[in-house]
Amino acid sequence: MADKDGNILAKDYGIGIKPPTRIFPVKGHQCAGWGMQSRLSQIFSDDGRTIMLAFDHGYIMGSTAGLERLDLVIPSIMQYADCLMATRGALRTCIPSNHHKAVALRCTADTSVIKDDMSFGTTNVDIEDAIRMNASCLAVQCFIGSDGEMDSFKNLSYYVNNGEKYGIPVLGVVAVGKQMERTTKYFSLATRLLAENGAHIIKTYYCDNFEQITAACPVPIVIAGGKKIPEAEALDMAYRAISEGAAGVDMGRNVLQAESPIAMLQAIRMVVHENAKPEEAFKAYELLKKDVK
Ligand code: R5P
Repeated sequence: MADKDGNILAKDYGIGIKPPTRIFPVKGHQCAGWGMQSRLSQIFSDDGRTIMLAFDHGYIMGSTAGLERLDLVIPSIMQYADCLMATRGALRTCIPSNHHKAVALRCTADTSVIKDDMSFGTTNVDIEDAIRMNASCLAVQCFIGSDGEMDSFKNLSYYVNNGEKYGIPVLGVVAVGKQMERTTKYFSLATRLLAENGAHIIKTYYCDNFEQITAACPVPIVIAGGKKIPEAEALDMAYRAISEGAAGVDMGRNVLQAESPIAMLQAIRMVVHENAKPEEAFKAYELLKKDVK
């Protein structure tokens, strides 16, 4: 019951002190609603950057190296990630719900790797289930220029419209169809199309003239890792991407297939959040991997 009498009188009004000016650190979202900003802040740190750990690829690739036992590997390394990118099936079965990380929930169902044309996808997770799963953002695969391009746009529209309704950002994932080339021209077109169609964050591959792509994209870009490359090269790619305007990385195989995934994630952390040079981060990786596997 509220007390009517005997309360201490309010007197600390800070007369003459202006309300603090707050600058929201995530590109393109300074005017977003509070709920949307709050979820973006789960993903991006105050430096406007993020490290997403991608282990969603089982949804089209099945069990691949590093992903055989999600229940063992992910909980043992996820402390060094800011955000977990996963399917709802993986989250429900393999990840403890008290993980305290942001979640990029893989929401589309896409054609598996055994099909020639993988570009015909559909919505899979309903917006209600994404909310039940406490998703911080909704990940939507988009095949620009492929035969299934319009499927991609329909899926993107579904998640952007519902995401706007409930304050949940959408991560538009640039997928490269088999007939597409990994050129500056292609990634420039694809990232911009996804952003213009409402995606709040874009995941794409690193390429030449990357600074042109980040400059022309009005929302944050995170780079995909792609196929496993030597650890030093992956750190160098992350460094170049960040220096050229990326807001972070969303890496899977280059972490999970590293000799020491936990050391690799720590080294990536140094590059993304501590502005470490790639050589410095690789040196740290070499040291760290001796202590942990
Ligand atoms: C697209 O986003 C795919 O699902 C990726 O393959 C997945 O997120 C794994 O990432 P990476 O290419 O870094 O292994």
